[in-house]
Amino acid sequence: MNNIHTDLKWVLNNCENPNYSEAEEYFSPDVARKARKFHRQIPGFKMSPLLSLPNLAQMFDVGGIWVKDEANRLQINSFKILGGSYAVYKYLKNKLGLDKEELTYQELTSQNAKKKLGKITFATATDGNHGRGIAWAAQKLGHDCVVYVHEKTARARIDAIKSYGAQVKIIPGNYDDAVNQISKDAQINNWAVISDTSWEGYTQIPLWIMQGYTTMMSEIQEQFAAQGLTKPTHVFVQAGVGALAASVIGFYHALFRENAPKCVVVEPENAACLYESILEANKNPVKISGKLDTIMAGLACGEPSPLAWKTLKNNACCFLTCPDYVAAKGMRIYATPLQGDPFIVSGESGAVTLGAMVSILRENGAEELRDFLKINRDSHLLFVNTEGNTDPVHFREIIWEGANPVPKQFWTDYND
Ligand SMILES: Cc1ncc(COP(=O)(O)O)c(C=O)c1O
Repeated sequence: MNNIHTDLKWVLNNCENPNYSEAEEYFSPDVARKARKFHRQIPGFKMSPLLSLPNLAQMFDVGGIWVKDEANRLQINSFKILGGSYAVYKYLKNKLGLDKEELTYQELTSQNAKKKLGKITFATATDGNHGRGIAWAAQKLGHDCVVYVHEKTARARIDAIKSYGAQVKIIPGNYDDAVNQISKDAQINNWAVISDTSWEGYTQIPLWIMQGYTTMMSEIQEQFAAQGLTKPTHVFVQAGVGALAASVIGFYHALFRENAPKCVVVEPENAACLYESILEANKNPVKISGKLDTIMAGLACGEPSPLAWKTLKNNACCFLTCPDYVAAKGMRIYATPLQGDPFIVSGESGAVTLGAMVSILRENGAEELRDFLKINRDSHLLFVNTEGNTDPVHFREIIWEGANPVPKQFWTDYND
């Protein structure tokens, strides 16, 4: 370990009066069971792998490093499809007046259902992955789709959305500007907005999206059980608006309450709206504006989802921010594994948590965090690789050309 002080920033959230009410209401095992039941009916649906990296775990002297790998989920390259598809399903079920009844995927795609529903235009704003999921779901179910992206969205991400027949519009500004614009235009055009972030008066669909993500945790728990493990001891989850993190953390707190794993929320330092919110005196969601300049495109959000925030502020134990090079390092570790560990394709937003873990365990100045997390040989650390190679140009720049290098003073000393 050298003498340079870490670039990570964090706030410990001691949650002195633990409150599990949102977690239990929104993310109970029953909710997860229903979401998973729906997903299982989608043609081609498969459980994503939970990969073990035993040699990396040995290198860092921990019990296990586990990666839920979403890089190939339904060939969409990210976990996002779980939320989008479930929200679209719930929306249509609702529209058919079958909210409380079972409706199979087959019935939903039947001519009869299509006749009753008519043609619907789904609309959403995205940094790429969510929009791709909604476009996919709309096409599968025979509806139209409009997706707004912000001006910095990578060409490959736009093309991927268009490949599912969606119309894409580029909005000046950042992700939050695209969200704002679509909510206005949708009213004028009578589009059905399927947004992964919530705002005042718009919470039902974002809740369904978060609930759709619980399929992933239900699978993880089954996969852990097959390894003889009850649960991870620590969970590192990346966040943009916080919907994924709330779903993961809510699920574990609904299931294990005070025995839930320690959950760390990880954000880019230039788009750390959840970190800023926990610092706020009343812990209200804080909006940050500006360019939100980060290579972690999926996490470049300036405004927390208020709905997600309710769970996060009560149940996340730590909010952490990282510079971009931490994500790039995580990508390279996944892509060049230790001998015997699996090779994992992970994009910028997918890999930042692994990079963060290495910095936490090895960097000078992170002692407070290490003491708090108490990661040791009995620890089983869970990461979610939330995306595969969703921006191939940038992926190559990082992995092949070494873009976003780790400053020399932060190189990990592997002989420690
Ligand atoms: C790859 C990836 N990981 C993580 C996230 C974060 O999800 P959320 O915005 O729900 O916090 C996103 C969001 O788009 C994403 O695309």
